[in-house]
Amino acid sequence: MKAVLITGASSGIGKALSYQFAAHGHNLVIAARRQEELDKIKQDIESRFSVKVIVKVSDLAIDGGADRLYEELREFDIEVMINNAGFGDFAMPWEMDLAKAQTMVDLNVRALTTLSLRYVRDYSDTQVTLLNVASIGGYTQFDIAVTYCATKFYVASFTEGLAQSLMDQGKPMRAKVLAPGPTESEFVTHSSEKGAIEGDGLFPENAFITAEQLAQYAYQLFESDQAVGIVNDENQLELKEPIYPYVQVPH
Ligand SMILES: NC(=O)c1ccc[n+]([C@@H]2O[C@H](COP(=O)([O-])OP(=O)(O)OC[C@H]3O[C@@H](n4cnc5c(N)ncnc54)[C@H](OP(=O)(O)O)[C@@H]3O)[C@@H](O)[C@H]2O)c1
Repeated sequence: MKAVLITGASSGIGKALSYQFAAHGHNLVIAARRQEELDKIKQDIESRFSVKVIVKVSDLAIDGGADRLYEELREFDIEVMINNAGFGDFAMPWEMDLAKAQTMVDLNVRALTTLSLRYVRDYSDTQVTLLNVASIGGYTQFDIAVTYCATKFYVASFTEGLAQSLMDQGKPMRAKVLAPGPTESEFVTHSSEKGAIEGDGLFPENAFITAEQLAQYAYQLFESDQAVGIVNDENQLELKEPIYPYVQVPH
């Protein structure tokens, strides 16, 4: 069965992406830790659209979590992989909860790398798409989120590099970076946990777009021939060529 994998599908952007891809007729594999939320989303999507939704309960921040999820995907033909699961932390570097920072790197960087590389290894000669969710914080640093932004710089540069190498080598697989700006979700709540900076964090309340709007932008990026989709200051989607410097080394 052909299906789209969406990690972090139990809330916010991942949940909205699930509805967006289902509305376009794609079967889904939705993954996160909260089974109850995933089950509700599965039921609702299957009652509204003629698609199949598979639920995978998975903690991607723990050792071996991403490998286990990938192994469970073997029975599916993954036409799109969306690495969306991630979280932030609004705190100055010297005030950060170290355990939270480590889990953030494990989820935002380590799990995304494992899933992306295993997908590229198995599917690079197939017409499929890898869509990794970075952030505008993947292109600009914010003082109260330097560690989070660094994880997203990684996501952006890693995915852009994959996109360029796949194109250089004439491979049919595509890799794309989605860089959302402030988007309504549980992100701000989770980024403000554990004694970090209180309030809205980086942006005023009226700066936020809905997760549904962002999911429409993600679908536009998916359908386009561009590798990068950045939500700009006016909350518009800008589709772009890769931004990070890239050199093709003769070998
Ligand atoms: N919202 C924004 O303003 C914004 C802006 C730029 C980029 N982003 C990025 O967008 C992505 C989605 O975030 P969101 O805004 O939709 O926030 P969210 O509502 O908090 O969603 C985060 C998702 O990640 C999942 N998740 C968290 N820890 C996990 C773990 N250990 N293993 C597996 N799944 C885990 C959560 O599900 P469970 O708790 O059920 O596991 C949830 O489904 C993130 O990568 C975030 O960095 C968000």
